[in-house]
Amino acid sequence: MKAFYLVKNGKSEDAFELRDLQLKEPGDDEVMIEVEAFGLNFADVMARLGYYKACPPLPAVIGYDAAGRIIKKGKNVTDLETGQKVTALTRFGAYATHVVTNKSGVVPVTEDTDAATATALATQYTTAYYAAEFSMNLQKGEHVLIQAAAGGVGTALTQLIKRKGCIIYGTAGSKEKEKYIKNNGVDFPINYREQDFFEYIKSIRGEKSLDAVFDSIGGNYIKKSIKLLAPGGRLVIYGAAQIAGNSSKKSFLRPIKVLMGFGRYSPVKFFAESQSLIGVNMLKTGDFKPEILKKCMTDVVNLYNNGEIKPHISRVFKATELSEAHNYLQKRQSVGKIVVKW
Ligand SMILES: NC(=O)c1ccc[n+]([C@@H]2O[C@H](COP(=O)([O-])OP(=O)(O)OC[C@H]3O[C@@H](n4cnc5c(N)ncnc54)[C@H](OP(=O)(O)O)[C@@H]3O)[C@@H](O)[C@H]2O)c1
Repeated sequence: MKAFYLVKNGKSEDAFELRDLQLKEPGDDEVMIEVEAFGLNFADVMARLGYYKACPPLPAVIGYDAAGRIIKKGKNVTDLETGQKVTALTRFGAYATHVVTNKSGVVPVTEDTDAATATALATQYTTAYYAAEFSMNLQKGEHVLIQAAAGGVGTALTQLIKRKGCIIYGTAGSKEKEKYIKNNGVDFPINYREQDFFEYIKSIRGEKSLDAVFDSIGGNYIKKSIKLLAPGGRLVIYGAAQIAGNSSKKSFLRPIKVLMGFGRYSPVKFFAESQSLIGVNMLKTGDFKPEILKKCMTDVVNLYNNGEIKPHISRVFKATELSEAHNYLQKRQSVGKIVVKW
């Protein structure tokens, strides 16, 4: 068994080492998976740069998505079988040939689901599903803004929300990404390098005109989004990508600046405007509501099997190209999912 260990924060070229992995036997509620592919998530970039508090102390095996086959299972695992092809949302540990993880984040996929697609269904689609289905009660005809709509979660949110008949505004950072998000279902694509999303939406609909906002950028984006929320509007915050920046060096000032950019709000404002501010953190959901995590993942896999959602795989990297894959994600070159195959 082998794993890529995160040994050093900073540049991706120096950050990972392929080492032997000593894996414990699965506990009563756990399975061991032989991993065919693992997915990258933006949180992995944050962990590499040293910004991710939940990351275990180094050296650590990070990674949230694995696709492969179950080779061992604990005695309480009655809904999964050894030999089954599965997608798994792991609590770290996925950058490995084998991973042990709790049954609540493991769902079987069909034999013809390719491993790359299976990884996309784990963290990114499941987060999007939880945010769009559990946190929100979106109605047909509502006006919804999705930040970073070309990303992994953004692609998933767009497809899930489109099914509900909402009108979607989406932001992306290049002309190519603008085209991609339009093809994926965004009605009003906004290339934020050419126009500010706040000014654009204000100019066509006015302030207080959005029913829902999905934000993963954080900082001053939140202030602007709150100004755009209509009475009854909901704002879901599930990331703070602004903290990462373009540098491989950890900045101590940047997180403080981004956190201050969020602004301070009285609960009375939300009550008075009948608005909601909702946080989403799938690690916490997995820890405290494992049955909800399982339900979300199962629903996502069923939607995929029924052809109602379609992950987009940006690139599949070889295991030897892990550092390139990290740079690709950090430098905002990807659309949809990035995957590494053993
Ligand atoms: N809370 C949770 O449980 C949870 C779970 C999964 C993901 N997330 C969060 O959801 C977000 C999306 O995750 P993902 O894995 O799907 O990544 P992703 O969206 O595929 O990649 C991040 C994208 O964010 C955009 N971006 C905008 N401003 C940025 C900035 N200042 N620095 C870096 N990127 C910026 C970039 O797209 P453009 O080129 O279009 O700007 C980039 O491609 C991340 O913030 C992640 O931490 C949270």
